[in-house]
Amino acid sequence: MNYKLKLLDLAQKVSGNAYAPYSKFNVGAAILTDKENYYCGCNVENISYPLGTCAEEAAIASMVANGEKSIKEILIFANCENLISPCGACRQRIQEFASNNCQIHLANTSGIKTTYTLNELLPHSFKEF
Ligand code: THU
Repeated sequence: MNYKLKLLDLAQKVSGNAYAPYSKFNVGAAILTDKENYYCGCNVENISYPLGTCAEEAAIASMVANGEKSIKEILIFANCENLISPCGACRQRIQEFASNNCQIHLANTSGIKTTYTLNELLPHSFKEF
């Protein structure tokens, strides 16, 4: 299986574990790191709505917990027909661990629909102070 299909497979599978009783919107994210390892995560909502966490956030936390800090590519899967794109906060979270040309693949039930670079999704971003 090529690495993009593996990312899709992982993200789709983990989206099945999403805890999204409020939005009923299951999301999965899968990361390929520079060291060629894979990490994934799903969204976890809370009855106190602002406490919910995104799939990308969970995948990044898993990567960091396993001692890695460099995202090579990331895929975000939503269990729907529309295309979803990472929220603003998650774009910033991805940036913390990725280069400007990191590829961000967006996928739905029909497969990978489009790919952007991080710079396309988060231009002129806050990087240093
Ligand atoms: N969500 C994600 O997990 N990632 C995204 O990129 C967009 C939105 C989740 C958050 C919430 O649980 C649900 O989707 C609806 O916003």
